[in-house]
Amino acid sequence: MNLLANRKAFTRADIEPIAAAIPAERQASARHYGVHPYFTRRPANVVRAYIERYSRMGDIVLDSFGGTGVTAIEALLSGRKAVHNDLNPFANFITENIADTSLPSTTPLKQAFARIEEACAPKIKTIESAAEAEMGKLLKQLPLPENIRLPSNSDAEHFFDLFTPRQLAGLAALKQAIDGERDDHARGPLLLAWSASVAKLNKTFLSAEGRAESRGGSSIFSIYRYKLAKSVVELPIWETFKGRFLNVLSAKDEVFHLRDHFNRTQPQFPIDSAKNLTVLAQDAATLSATLGPQSVDYIYTDPPYGAHIAYLDLSILWNHWLGFAVSDATRQAEAIVGGECNFSEDHYKRKLADSIRDCLVLLKPDRWLSIVFQHWDTSYFATILETASEHGADLRAAVTQERDVIWSMHKKKNSENVLSGEMILTFYKPAAHRRPGTAKKPVAQASRLRMKKTLPEILDSVLSPQSSVLHAPGLTGEFIFNQVILEAWRENCLSALFVTREAFAHELRARGWKYQPKTNQWSKGAALPELLVLHEGSGTYGVTPPTQGRKRKAR
Ligand SMILES: C[S@@+](CC[C@H](N)C(=O)[O-])C[C@H]1O[C@@H](n2cnc3c(N)ncnc32)[C@H](O)[C@@H]1O
Repeated sequence: MNLLANRKAFTRADIEPIAAAIPAERQASARHYGVHPYFTRRPANVVRAYIERYSRMGDIVLDSFGGTGVTAIEALLSGRKAVHNDLNPFANFITENIADTSLPSTTPLKQAFARIEEACAPKIKTIESAAEAEMGKLLKQLPLPENIRLPSNSDAEHFFDLFTPRQLAGLAALKQAIDGERDDHARGPLLLAWSASVAKLNKTFLSAEGRAESRGGSSIFSIYRYKLAKSVVELPIWETFKGRFLNVLSAKDEVFHLRDHFNRTQPQFPIDSAKNLTVLAQDAATLSATLGPQSVDYIYTDPPYGAHIAYLDLSILWNHWLGFAVSDATRQAEAIVGGECNFSEDHYKRKLADSIRDCLVLLKPDRWLSIVFQHWDTSYFATILETASEHGADLRAAVTQERDVIWSMHKKKNSENVLSGEMILTFYKPAAHRRPGTAKKPVAQASRLRMKKTLPEILDSVLSPQSSVLHAPGLTGEFIFNQVILEAWRENCLSALFVTREAFAHELRARGWKYQPKTNQWSKGAALPELLVLHEGSGTYGVTPPTQGRKRKAR
């Protein structure tokens, strides 16, 4: 008997999906943490675990809504060919400057920093100590960007209104010196440090209560608009820049160290950003036209979540001063609700659906796709799940990644109404060609007829005595909400389901659950919770060991 002939060939369908949440180590990697603020940056250790599980060395890994490049950087540093895409030039600027491996070490960066210090530290000292009356004269001698209008929901009308004259002059003097730096590869990271300084040296900077004045952040990243601080904090300009530069230096040190170690131990897949990193700046829905159908081995992506964040409006502060043009066509392609373009929900859902469809065109057969998402609007989940299903992908795992974040101020106020984590939905695109619309759903066909189930009915099944979720000592709202989404999808009624945060909280209370603001958990009974995961081919949710017993920091 030919044993080899009988052995089933390993396909990527055999990959065991990640079924449990992975504790986030947000501050663990200097290459992401503290380099530059951006919106909804994903924890690198979680992203990397997904890349390592669902792809192999030498594979092409794509993030079509790449942000600051966590996916691309982790893919590159784990021996994959990374493709990063984002409409926002500012996001791509951060990504490229962290990921660039062309320098042999950080020595040229330190040398370039010394040249900048020599060129402009005295000038900055003068600016820092000048009287208000002298600032006009100083500003006249410095190159400034055009004073454009800001989005209409901003406290400030024009670009310059975002800065005190001293901040404007200090940043302009620094930028002038960096623009004149002769080492091309050092100029990028220095500009990155300058750009991170802009985030602190402007009137939207809000000092964190009870901490050093310099700790805190811009309202752009906490309340997602240009809100000016009631009492403006003017941090020291040179010291702020130096601090940002040291963070960039740590990031680059880490990247170079990982590169050198990897290239010594795995010489067959050398890490080299010039060869293995592609950065694109186009609508995520159009990538297959550039990269070609069936060209990608794994996609991990984190699209915008509806109306929360108008990325391009909020990045004007950087895009404008860095000289990155954003065309009207680019603005029109942004996948958000609202913003200065006042995009409708339909626009957002269309963009979301088009980009997921394109992901499935881009993906080779027998490959995996992970989409990170969270929102109260169940119809957004329906858009994702239905589009993926219609284009041949099977949902194989849905994991709630609760977030150990420092809750932003507006989140703290109404914490029971906040979804502070996200769900990672992982799909498999089968090897065999399947006609669109014929993907297996994790639901008995008979239930297709039951199109209307209400929130109370769904909660009753999610929290029924037979359910693995009931009797848990503590579950976050996002975990329970995600079970509602999955149950509604299983029962084929997701698109008809409407949930408000208030109704959700009310229904939980009506079932005897209580919210604990300190732990951000709902509790009833005493058994441990279990996670739900879809097991391949079974069409049912399997049960995996609990991971939620870990302690959350009470904030
Ligand atoms: C949730 S963020 C991604 C953040 C990323 N996970 C990170 O770790 O930094 C979504 C990104 O999608 C980008 N974006 C919005 N509409 C887009 C579109 N149509 N095509 C490509 N990117 C888009 C935004 O600029 C934003 O950076």
